[in-house]
Amino acid sequence: MLRPDLLSHDLIPERDLVVHRSDELNEITQAFDPVLDGRAPMNLFLFGPSGVGKTMTARIAVDELEQEAAVSTSYVNCWETYERNDLLYTVTDELLTGETIHRQSTSRTEWLEKLGADPQHPRIVILDEVDQLEDKKVLYELHEKPALSLVCIANREEGLFSGMDKRTRSRVVIGNRIEFDDYSTSQLASILKKRIEQLSLINVVSDRQFERIGSSSNGDARIAITTLRLAIEAARSTSGRTDVTNQMIAEAVDQAENVLRLEHLDRLNDFQQTLYEIVEDREPVSPGDIYDEYSERAVNPKTKRTIRSHLGKMVQYHIIVERGSSQKKRYLVR
Ligand SMILES: Nc1ncnc2c1ncn2[C@@H]1O[C@H](COP(=O)(O)OP(=O)(O)O)[C@@H](O)[C@H]1O
Ligand SMILES: [Mg+2]
Repeated sequence: MLRPDLLSHDLIPERDLVVHRSDELNEITQAFDPVLDGRAPMNLFLFGPSGVGKTMTARIAVDELEQEAAVSTSYVNCWETYERNDLLYTVTDELLTGETIHRQSTSRTEWLEKLGADPQHPRIVILDEVDQLEDKKVLYELHEKPALSLVCIANREEGLFSGMDKRTRSRVVIGNRIEFDDYSTSQLASILKKRIEQLSLINVVSDRQFERIGSSSNGDARIAITTLRLAIEAARSTSGRTDVTNQMIAEAVDQAENVLRLEHLDRLNDFQQTLYEIVEDREPVSPGDIYDEYSERAVNPKTKRTIRSHLGKMVQYHIIVERGSSQKKRYLVR
């Protein structure tokens, strides 16, 4: 297999590996049109469930724009970089390549001032998982900068708005919005088939097997690709044959979600890890009890809202599960 990365659910694929999403890609490309004349586009908002190609589409569109026009870009995943200062530092550092930004010695206001210089030069900042930002005012701070446009990605619009002050809401949340739907079974099957073709493994998986994986992936390409990878790995480790059996597909379907879960678990930062450990120790546990326990353990405790949004994201990533609603809401490890 020449390119094992083609079976990684994290890959930002080349455009010829992308099937479907051409409408969304075109919409984004069109929204970026002003950049070709040296102007900043309106902000852009991408919404949709997990694994429907939001990150992929945004990054491909921005990469292509960079080939065609003079524009600086930055990509930040706010699930990892959720604090204002970290975010501003990362964005400034990426946008102002060539200039040295010393994280310790350059003051925050200086970073922001640097971003205001050169108003003729468009800049695009992708804020992925934007609902995870600790303080959404930072969106306003960025938006205010001349020639700077935001591409905000979130699962749901409510997540973007949650905890947002009025000013940010009225100024920042103006622009084009694109909704991404779940993939259908046959769409997922064609995404998988394309990868297998590129790997020159075309007879190894049958059309029915692609469909089988597609139908058990809940509309999520990340689950589908992971399932395919597990099935291919199973076939490779069975000596004497390379084609994938139905049994291997069935086992891969069973394992995929858990494999993804463990990968996500591995990548939690200290704060998220602490929340996970509390759920593990105290399950089933209410959000209020998690907060109390967390405040005891943490030196500089984060706000209730930050904790709530991180718990929500951990549920989306299948790291923990949520049972019940409102007053009766409880979190469990599995
Ligand atoms: N239309 C598509 N064609 C090819 N690969 C896709 C497509 N949509 C998603 N993928 C792949 O699925 C994985 C998840 O997509 P991603 O853009 O990260 O989803 P989201 O950001 O919506 O959660 C990535 O590896 C991506 O390359
Ligand atoms: Mg994404």
